[in-house]
This record gives sequence, C-alpha cells and structure tokens, in this order.
Amino acid sequence: MKITVVGAGAVGATCADNIARKELADELVLLDIKEGIAEGKTLDMFQTASLLGFDTKLVGSTNDYSKTANSDVVVITSGLPRKPGMTREELIGVNAGIVKSVVENILKFSKNPIIVIISNPMDTMTYLAKSVAGLDKHRIIGMGGTLDSARFKCYLAKAMDVSINDIHGTVIGGHGDTTMIPLKRLATYNGVPVSQFLSAETLDKVAADTMVGGATLTGLLGTSAWYAPGAAGAALVEAIVRDEKKIMACCVSLDGEYGQSDICLGVPVVLGKNGWEKIVDYQLTDDEQAAFNKSADAVRNMNSVLSTLSL
Ligand code: LAC
Repeated sequence: MKITVVGAGAVGATCADNIARKELADELVLLDIKEGIAEGKTLDMFQTASLLGFDTKLVGSTNDYSKTANSDVVVITSGLPRKPGMTREELIGVNAGIVKSVVENILKFSKNPIIVIISNPMDTMTYLAKSVAGLDKHRIIGMGGTLDSARFKCYLAKAMDVSINDIHGTVIGGHGDTTMIPLKRLATYNGVPVSQFLSAETLDKVAADTMVGGATLTGLLGTSAWYAPGAAGAALVEAIVRDEKKIMACCVSLDGEYGQSDICLGVPVVLGKNGWEKIVDYQLTDDEQAAFNKSADAVRNMNSVLSTLSL
C-alpha cells in the first residue's frame, strides 16, 4: 500500500503523521512545493518511529511527482488556509488552480488512485477534482463531513459531559459555516436520542457551534485548524485501506441520491477498498431535505465560479 499526501502544511503533515502512526501504508510520500519542507517533516516524523513504534517508509519530496508513482490513495491538502474572518469560499480563486494542477500531476504517475480532497472550498474542490481526474466517481472523496461530524460529537460530548466514544452524530450538506447540517434528530448517546438529555435550546447551540467549528478555531489560532482536519483525513484513509465498510459523512458525487445531481456534497457513505462504495439513505424529514437542498444551491453557486476562472 502506497499513500501520498500532497501539501506538507499543518493539515497535510498532521494527516501524514496520523497515517504513519496507524501504519496504513508500506510507503508514505509527503510532497510540497516549498523546498525542503516535506523532506524535513518526514525526517522529523521518522525520528518518532522508534519512540512510537511504527515502521512505515517515509519519503519527502519537493514537487517531484515521480516519487508519488503508483500511489493507491492520494490525499490533497494543498492550497491556502483560511485567515481569521475569511470564509472557506473566499479561497476558491487561488485554490482551484492549485488543486487542478495537483490532480493532473498525480495522474501522470498513478493511474487509478483513490483521491481524498481536503483543500477548501472542499465541496467545490471535490467537484473540480472529479471533473479533472475523470476517474470512477467512487474514487473521489471530499473529507468535510467526517471533520464536521467529529466536531458535532465534540460539542455534544462537552454539553452532556459524557464519553465522546458513546456519542454518534452526523453532519451532512456542504462544508461551509452556513451550508453544513448537523442532524440533531439522529444524534445519539449510545443509541438513545440526545434530545432525551439536552434541551432543544442546548441542542441548537451545539449545532450552531458545530457549524462555525472551523471559524472558531481560525479566530483562536490565526489560521485554519489542523489536528482534527488531519485526523479526519487519516480516519477516512484508514476506512479505505483497511476496507472497513464504515459509514462516514463524505463529500461525493450525487446522481439523484438525496434529490441532487451534478454536485459533490456531504452524505453518509460506506467506505471500503474501492473508495466510497454506496450512499446510505438516512430518510431525511421534509425540513432536513429542505436544508439539504438549500445547501446544494449554495454549493452549486460556488461551483459555477469555476467556469469564470482561467484554469
Ligand atoms: C476546517 C478547515 C480545514 O474546517 O476546513 O478546519
């Protein structure tokens, strides 16, 4: 198993570090455009191997895509991160060109990889990657919902003061502050609806905190978060390479599922060795479906910007 992470910034390096620690690959390549960064970070990571007890070959590369040859899974984190006060959507002009060229370069050396997109605006970058790559749609997966669901579970566990491992929760829709949809109705504390433990008001606050989860961290840190985004990317890769058949919320190409087509948007999918293997129908209520349609409209609007860029 060979895995490549493109982009050795905070998110890419954290994702690579998690993938190395979990021993998901025989060989893990970290590539960045900045001279020496990927080589330095992979060397630093390998110096933790004997301390942490993993044994994965780590390769750093300054923009030499031949080192990524024959990758089974490629995670793309390249592009600018958010600054405080910025939306993910404001990054489209710069990041679209970067993501397009990364996908093209990857495909020169790997014929049929599974591609995981983390770069923002994630839903539109996934849509772009799908059209540039021309791979089977099951092999293009955007990471947003996995991260947003992890944040939803974080805020639920904090509000209830219980083990986060007993909390289940899913966020669907777009990976934007106003487009994501924490599914409050389906969140449970070990199978029991969380509404039995939290007031409607508290649950609304949890959902609102989840939606601005990334922006809150950008405000605190001065740049985008990296621990949870990196871990979410690695969890998704783990479900794929270990063929786990886990259900995770991911941004995938919809062909009528959830009432939408010609769009990549967050829905629950089963992940396995072939990428996203099927979409699970959570049978949304009318209100949830209306929110999903609204989210799709906003993402479609953003996707339409792609045609105005000279890519
Ligand atoms: C976030 C970025 C990675 O939500 O989209 O933190």
